[in-house]
Amino acid sequence: MSPALIDLRDVTRTFMISSGAFRGKRPLQAVNGVSLQVRPGEVVALVGESGCGKTTLAKIMLGLLAPSSGEIIVAGQPVSAIGRLETARLLQPIFQDPYSSLNPRKSIGSIIRLPLKVQQAPEPQNWRRRVEETMELVGLAPRLYNHYPNQLSGGQRQRVAIARALINHPQVVICDEPTSALDVSVQSQILNLLRDLRSELGLTYVLISHNLAVVEHIATRVAVMYLGRIVEKTDTETLFKDPKHPYTRALLSSVLTPDPDLGIPDNQLGVVYPNPVDPPSGCTFHPRCAEAMDICSRVAPQRHERSATRLNVIFTRSDRTPLRPPMPCRHGPGRHRRSESPHRSVSRARLQKHRTDNCAPPDGRGPRAPASQNSGSGC
Ligand SMILES: Nc1ncnc2c1ncn2[C@@H]1O[C@H](COP(=O)(O)OP(=O)(O)OP(=O)(O)O)[C@@H](O)[C@H]1O
Ligand code: SF4
Ligand SMILES: [Mg+2]
Repeated sequence: MSPALIDLRDVTRTFMISSGAFRGKRPLQAVNGVSLQVRPGEVVALVGESGCGKTTLAKIMLGLLAPSSGEIIVAGQPVSAIGRLETARLLQPIFQDPYSSLNPRKSIGSIIRLPLKVQQAPEPQNWRRRVEETMELVGLAPRLYNHYPNQLSGGQRQRVAIARALINHPQVVICDEPTSALDVSVQSQILNLLRDLRSELGLTYVLISHNLAVVEHIATRVAVMYLGRIVEKTDTETLFKDPKHPYTRALLSSVLTPDPDLGIPDNQLGVVYPNPVDPPSGCTFHPRCAEAMDICSRVAPQRHERSATRLNVIFTRSDRTPLRPPMPCRHGPGRHRRSESPHRSVSRARLQKHRTDNCAPPDGRGPRAPASQNSGSGC
């Protein structure tokens, strides 16, 4: 296996948050013990609810934020040893908002040229040609060289941001919700562009997105974050076919489908996202977890190797009583057993199949409870 381009080892980032007059500051763990490797050619997606720490993690990878603890290895060297300029040569960001990420006072040409200047690229007489070539590569007409950001559409501005990220031939591009500020038709153009550039230039992506359909189509691996931690990470196909963690299942079942008969999906998450300054005890997901047991509010699950026998002896679902506390819960991070829950639907086709297979609701809507719990009255 090729060595990781980015290797995060037990990275944490704590912000000290003011909790009101006379009450001092309290710690907010935006990223909590994250270990993640990004290998050449991969598209690693980070998904999770708003505020779970995706952007903070991206900024840590880019060297824009220092971690509170942990190690970040970029291209085999600690990020602190290679310096800001070298990090910027290897890793480039594309941010969510093409309106605020471009300097309105600079022309398109000088915005895209800036990284060449910062990195002191050779042959300044050729910079303009390089900029125009990159503009063509990302589908921008070179005639826009002297235009200003306010003269471009949202999609064109995002192409400028992509050109600026690519001009120095980085190895990894970190895309933080690159299409969420764009209208739907432009979104697909930008996503196709990113996909084509990846195969053309051999790029590696870290993709942050709330759009799970995009993640399913583009990513090769997915890490699911909840309250600063990665709760599940695996290759995309496995994650979408067989999500282990109840939170992943809830996320996947919240995907909207265009069929109005299917209604708005119920992701079963119930109560609101917890306050990260005062996270729940034990497993931080327990107040929202449909499969929580008594022990979940007291003992945080530990990472452990997947072993069917071991997983099965730790807790029994029938009485929900911990047999051997405080052994790790069988639902340790990334180690959840396949659930019988019918709420695992993801894609439209699978969702349709799921409803055909599992749903026999009294009113023709909504899923039926799993067979093991089904009392005949539906969900
Ligand atoms: N500079 C900061 N100072 C204090 N708290 C911060 C700072 N940056 C982020 N946070 C907090 O850290 C947590 C994670 O924020 P982050 O922006 O990484 O979330 P996110 O997953 O990117 O969310 P979204 O999907 O909405 O972009 C949030 O609770 C946020 O309030
Ligand atoms: S440890 Fe308990 S609360 Fe946490 S995800 Fe697993 S079952 Fe749910
Ligand atoms: Mg963010």
